[in-house]
Amino acid sequence: MTVIAIANQKGGVGKTTTAINLAAAMAMRGRRTLLIDLDPQGNSSISFLDVRKHDKNMFDVLSNGSVALADVIAPTPVENLDVAPARISLAKLEAMLISEIDGPYRLKDRLDALDRPYEFVIIDTPPALGLITVNALVAATHLLVPVQSSYFALEGTDDLLETVEKIRSRPNPNLKLLGAVITLHDKRTTLSRDVHKAIADVFGDRVFQTTISKSIRLEESPAHKESIFTFAPQSSGAYEYYRLCEEVIERV
Ligand SMILES: Nc1ncnc2c1ncn2[C@@H]1O[C@H](COP(=O)(O)OP(=O)(O)OP(=O)(O)O)[C@@H](O)[C@H]1O
Ligand SMILES: [Mg+2]
Repeated sequence: MTVIAIANQKGGVGKTTTAINLAAAMAMRGRRTLLIDLDPQGNSSISFLDVRKHDKNMFDVLSNGSVALADVIAPTPVENLDVAPARISLAKLEAMLISEIDGPYRLKDRLDALDRPYEFVIIDTPPALGLITVNALVAATHLLVPVQSSYFALEGTDDLLETVEKIRSRPNPNLKLLGAVITLHDKRTTLSRDVHKAIADVFGDRVFQTTISKSIRLEESPAHKESIFTFAPQSSGAYEYYRLCEEVIERV
């Protein structure tokens, strides 16, 4: 099972947009895929489910030993794609886990106990480097970092990579940096070329060839509870996320 954590503690860089569309792309290629939402904002969940209909969510799984991951997993209208949803209650989790010895390992333990066969698990994380993101990194085989094409793109990257090193040194030595994907790119600006170079200086050959352009369609699709592939199949966003999915499959 390939478990990909999508993380960057900067907010609004395209983590959720990447998580939902990468997960949908995998599923549409016939790969059994589980999207785990670990962000209390629940944006990934809302993109595929009516979360009000799901009384149990990832908060219950991670805070309470009696709720298994399988108990909250819900099918989506996309064939081969299931979602483990989050709700705002997840915001209470960090404070609860901090005093628990197994705090960083909760998600890993729940995933290990899952007997459903998924080829890919994609984890969306909140814009923070706290225990929720640490749970994702401990459970993951791979980390994918969306980096916004902006002047401040690399602010905080040092802290992110330092956290990854700490997690590699003890709880999860096998965690691999799958790559960095440049998002919200506007190729008309010269700034974006400079930013591209700055990102390549930090991530080297780990930068994906595929860059995700700014696209209104990508912004609109979650409100219609659809991935970009059904909402606007001819759009640049659909093409780019399809290409990114191909690159990810080549790299894992
Ligand atoms: N390529 C894109 N083109 C246009 N809009 C985009 C694109 N990618 C993301 N957005 C929009 O930018 C906003 C932030 O994106 P997204 O929610 O994916 O980021 P995030 O990193 O998950 O944010 P947060 O840190 O709050 O969880 C959203 O309104 C989203 O629809
Ligand atoms: Mg998000």
